[in-house]
Parts: sequence; C-alpha cells; structure tokens
Amino acid sequence: MLLKTVLLLVLGAQVQMLENGLLRVPPMGWLSWERFRCNTDCKNDPKNCISERLFMEMADRLAQDGWRDLGYLYLNIDDCWIGGRDSKGRLIPDKERFPNGIAFLADYAHSLGLKLGIYEDLGNFTCMGYPGTTLDKVVLDAQTFAEWKVDMLKLDGCYSTSSERDQGYPMMAAALNATGRPIAFSCSWPAYEGGLPPKVNYKQVAENCNLWRNYNDIQDSWASVLSILDWFVAHQDILQPVAGPGHWNDPDMLIIGNYGLSFEQARSQMALWTILAAPLFMSTDLRSISPRNIDILQNSLMIKINQDPLGIQGRRVIKDRNHIEVYLRPLSNQASAIVFFSRRTDQPYKYRSNLAQLNLTSATMYEAQDVYTGDTISNLKQTTNFTVTINPSGVVMWYLYPLRKRQLFQH
Ligand SMILES: *[C@@H]1O[C@H](CO)[C@@H](O)[C@H](O)[C@H]1NC(C)=O
Ligand SMILES: *[C@@H]1O[C@H](CO)[C@@H](O)[C@H](O)[C@H]1NC(C)=O
Repeated sequence: MLLKTVLLLVLGAQVQMLENGLLRVPPMGWLSWERFRCNTDCKNDPKNCISERLFMEMADRLAQDGWRDLGYLYLNIDDCWIGGRDSKGRLIPDKERFPNGIAFLADYAHSLGLKLGIYEDLGNFTCMGYPGTTLDKVVLDAQTFAEWKVDMLKLDGCYSTSSERDQGYPMMAAALNATGRPIAFSCSWPAYEGGLPPKVNYKQVAENCNLWRNYNDIQDSWASVLSILDWFVAHQDILQPVAGPGHWNDPDMLIIGNYGLSFEQARSQMALWTILAAPLFMSTDLRSISPRNIDILQNSLMIKINQDPLGIQGRRVIKDRNHIEVYLRPLSNQASAIVFFSRRTDQPYKYRSNLAQLNLTSATMYEAQDVYTGDTISNLKQTTNFTVTINPSGVVMWYLYPLRKRQLFQH
C-alpha cells in the first residue's frame, strides 16, 4: 500500500513538471547556517543559539534596517530546530528553544512582510542528527510545513541513499504542490550526487526544485569562496544553461559580514554571486554587521542586476594570463553586467581591454556605471580602450548599457 502511494506520487511528479510560479528571480534573504550553525546552547549563549529569539531578532533587523525593502524577504531556519515527532508522527520543534512553535514564527515573519523558510533532510536524520524525513514521512511533513504557513523548504540529503533521493525529491515536490500552499523548494539533491551529469539530471532537478545546491557547503574563508567559484566556472557549460526564472543554481550563502573575508573579498563574493544569478542568502549577524558590509549587501544597482527579470546566469568569458578574469552576465534591455576580477596578491592591477574583446558589439556606443563607486564611464565604442584598476582579490563591476540615438542627442 505504502509502495503504491510512493509510486503514484513519483509518477505524479513526473507528469506535473513542477512550475509553481515561484522565484522568478533569485530568492534573497537570510539563512542561519553558516554563521550560527548548530549552536543549541541557549543556557550559556542565549543571543546566538538556534532559537525563536534569534529568528525574531533577525526578522526585526530585516524589517527595520532596510533589508526587506531591498528584497531580502526570506528568513530561513536551517538545521537543529527539530525537537522530535509527536504521537501522530508529526514534526515538533524543540520546546525549549522554540516555545511558541513554528507557526508563531511564520506569523511573526508575515506580520513584518517577510517569508519564513524551514529546513529538513530527506533521510533518516538531518546532517546534525535530528529526525529526518524518510520516504514514508514526506507527505506528512509537507502538510505540516503548509499548516505552519512556511514559505520555503530547504531539503538536505544526509543519511539517504541515491535511490531514496531519486524518489524522495520529486515526491516532496509533488507533496508540497498538493498542499496548495506556494512553498519554494530548495533541494540539496545535486550536491549529494557530485553535482554533475550523468549522475545528476539537471532537467529533472529543474522540474522539481526552485533552487538547488550543486556543490560543497561554504565556510567562512576566502579559500572556500574561491573553491566554489572555481567549481562553478569549471562546469559553467553544464550549469549555466540550467538556471533561469523559477529554477536556480545555488553556490551557497553570502558570508559577507563574518570573519573570513577582507573588504575586497566581500565585494568580490557579492559581485560574483550576482553574475552567477545566485540566490542571495546572507548568513551573518545583522545585529552587529558593519556599515561597510551593509553597503556591499545593500547596493541597489547590484541587487537590480542580481534580480534581472531575464534570469540569465553569467559566465567567465576571459581568463587572462596575468591572473585577471572577466565575467559577463546578459541583462534585460540589452544591458550587461561585467566583473573584472583579480586573483593577484601583489598590488592594484591596471587591466586594459575594450568591448570588442568582450564580444560586446551589438551597439555603436555604450555607457557603463561602476556598480561600487557609482562613476559613469561614457562614450565607450567597441574599440575604445579602457583601463580598470583592480585590487588584489577584488573586483571592478560595471553595469553596461547601449546608448540609443535619443540618449546620444541628450549627451
Ligand atoms: C535508514 O534507516 C533504516 C532503518 O534503520 C536502515 O535500514 C537504512 O540503512 C538507513 N539508511 C541510511 C542511508 O542510513
Ligand atoms: C502545483 O502545480 C501546478 C502545475 O504545475 C501549478 O499550476 C500550481 O501553481 C502548483 N501549485 C502549488 C501550490 O505549488
């Protein structure tokens, strides 16, 4: 009987080709994991433990400090919230740390114009050893999340087999859909299969998930950021085409505001994640983040680029022998975002190029805005040589747009 139900759900999911209308642009928000991990010691560390208090305080910051109004809408819980299952098998949060329950947190988030995301794991346990969603619990857990009015589910993949994941992720997609509540679905599925075909079928992943982790967890270091970037670039021919409105590759959280990145490196992560059309999930303490890091994360032109409605993921287009790389993302209205990235470790480097070298030849005249300084670079023809000065492990980022005749006259 159970097996029959499972088969029906799997078939249902395959026929359905999940198009839930959600996340037409990459999701933005806050996720607890990278910064707050599985700190459950509320007795000694009440301010930083995974608890109702932490999420309410972050919700307040998102709403009051300008984040929400820029699009950082999701307040997402990661591992270590679960207390167990009740006599009917339904998930319950840890009673001490979430005394009012998850529905209460969802209401609180909604009252502030935010959305609440939750975490589970398709398997016997979550990665940190809490009760997981085994195949027989998929439908029940989806219903529980919907009853709580959750808006996103991140479904991890620890303690499961490959064949359980092949069944379980489409099953969960169908089960979420069947609840009738719009719940964005973040899958860790590809990451547990090595992230690449033939083991990963990205068409199938995109039919079932709104976003998915492809690769390793981010850690609080520049080395970790680079290792993720390197992997995404090495496989960009596979990964770039599968992203688009409603279905995104996820290189993992922004670690800006934590301990591992310099100022230049923080600017680089933001710029490169934006080029990759990545979800922008901050994982930092918004109660104490510095103004410089706020400026990086709240750069409105950056966010406009990340949220471009075409949803085309960018690519690395040049790898220069002087350890300079150029990344390009096509945007709506024939605009583009360009990131000049330096892997050098000596001093600011003067990189000389022109738009023809970047294959930008569709208009006769362009103008660029430097995304971080706001400076305008005018009168760029295809062959106009320009020089950008890129700091070590830093970026220069341009929003480039063609000047039309009307605008030409105005100048
Ligand atoms: C999950 O638990 C079941 C029952 O104890 C066990 O047979 C199975 O091997 C476990 N699966 C994994 C992937 O650990
Ligand atoms: C369920 O799937 C159908 C078909 O793809 C879609 O039209 C509908 O919006 C989905 N509903 C929810 C709640 O995800």
